Amino acid sequence: MSFDITSYIRDIHDFPKDGILFKDITPVLSNPKALTGTVEALLKMAEGLKVDKVVAMESRGFMFGTLLAARLGAGFVPVRKPGKLPFSTLKEEYALEYGTDALEMHTDAIQEGDHVLIHDDVLATGGTAEATVKLVERAGGKVVQLSFLMDLLFLNGRDRLQEYEVKSLVSY
Ligand code: PRP
Ligand code: MG
Repeated sequence: MSFDITSYIRDIHDFPKDGILFKDITPVLSNPKALTGTVEALLKMAEGLKVDKVVAMESRGFMFGTLLAARLGAGFVPVRKPGKLPFSTLKEEYALEYGTDALEMHTDAIQEGDHVLIHDDVLATGGTAEATVKLVERAGGKVVQLSFLMDLLFLNGRDRLQEYEVKSLVSY
């Protein structure tokens, strides 16, 4: 890859809580070369795949997910936090460090047999991605790739996604 996304990812210490090192992608988004370079790099990761739908998770997954879908000639499907989608939904709960959260997807978003690329900005513990895989499969979709800008290896998210192709532009 000639373009290196890492120089545009900004480290923010103690955000949103003390002790957390937050990876800020707003410099990637605001720089025209980084923005297009990132889309091209994500497209290269998906080379050779047949993709009918790109499914991305609220909210940072939407940023590159829609751009990627348009370039792949695929449809775009948002997965959102509960109560945000207006039509009938499928819902998956997932565990957080304390308590649970949930994600929803419209029941008509995926057609039986659709080839689905799931995109998000960060793979951390994998809870968000695993819940999204379940939503896609319940709707009859086949997950052909999980695509991330970055993978936080020390949180072992890949362990929950072993049956799937997981790709990331950078790993930390
Ligand atoms: C962050 C990140 C991923 C998710 C990864 O989203 O954008 O979606 O966490 O974490 P996991 O692998 O441990 O599930 P966040 O919930 O902060 O929301 P946002 O995208 O709306 O900022
Ligand atoms: Mg997110």
